[in-house]
Amino acid sequence: MKKPINMNIVTPRIILRPFILEDAPFMFKWTNDVRVTQYLRFNTHKSVAESMRIISSWIEKDTFPQICNWAILKREDLEVIGSIGIGTTSVIDERGEVGYALRFDEWNKGYMSEILPYVLTFGFDNMNLHRIEATHSLLNPASGKVMKKAHMSKECPLMRHYYKSSQTGFHDSAMYVAFSDTYNRYPSEIL
Ligand SMILES: CC(C)(COP(=O)(O)OP(=O)(O)OC[C@H]1O[C@@H](n2cnc3c(N)ncnc32)[C@H](O)[C@@H]1OP(=O)(O)O)[C@@H](O)C(=O)NCCC(=O)NCCS
Repeated sequence: MKKPINMNIVTPRIILRPFILEDAPFMFKWTNDVRVTQYLRFNTHKSVAESMRIISSWIEKDTFPQICNWAILKREDLEVIGSIGIGTTSVIDERGEVGYALRFDEWNKGYMSEILPYVLTFGFDNMNLHRIEATHSLLNPASGKVMKKAHMSKECPLMRHYYKSSQTGFHDSAMYVAFSDTYNRYPSEIL
């Protein structure tokens, strides 16, 4: 669908932009990797075509401002290394949820902690969200660390069987939140 505003976001090391179909072989590098997908809801992809189908559905069905998905590109070489997205979970309550994934060989370089504050800022300023939630499996503390480093507050330390991974079943989870009236904004750089 048409994206009426510029969705691109630029951080010191990263560019975020909407996905294009040509990203599918790059996306497959993490959607095909069980080390990445074990904490996610979707099945580990078996073919590039599966990744292309997801991208295609995002391009066709994401309805701004309710849903935004971005490809994560390194500024140094413009390689696509991950995805991040915000979905509105309640329009009336102005509530949304953020989720993300990164290719395994790019973990622990601080990328997601760098990106998340900019994406939250976008959600508050462009998606009419007041409250943005993020949840992580208790078996996946690195994701909780990212939320904390993005200045989200822990609201629920333990939600039993909060979500079900296709690969690994039900996960006990923690929830972090950020609010539009108190969040310090991270405006995108202009290239
Ligand atoms: C979660 C994920 C996005 C993190 O991205 P990233 O760019 O590697 O995160 P960062 O480098 O910004 O920060 C990770 C932090 O977790 C820490 N960390 C890594 N492994 C850890 C572990 N097993 N236990 C505790 N902390 C850990 C890192 O040291 C780092 O903290 P630091 O900067 O204070 O040293 C990435 O691991 C990923 O894609 N995982 C698979 C998909 C996923 O889990 N998505 C989230 C679903 S809720």
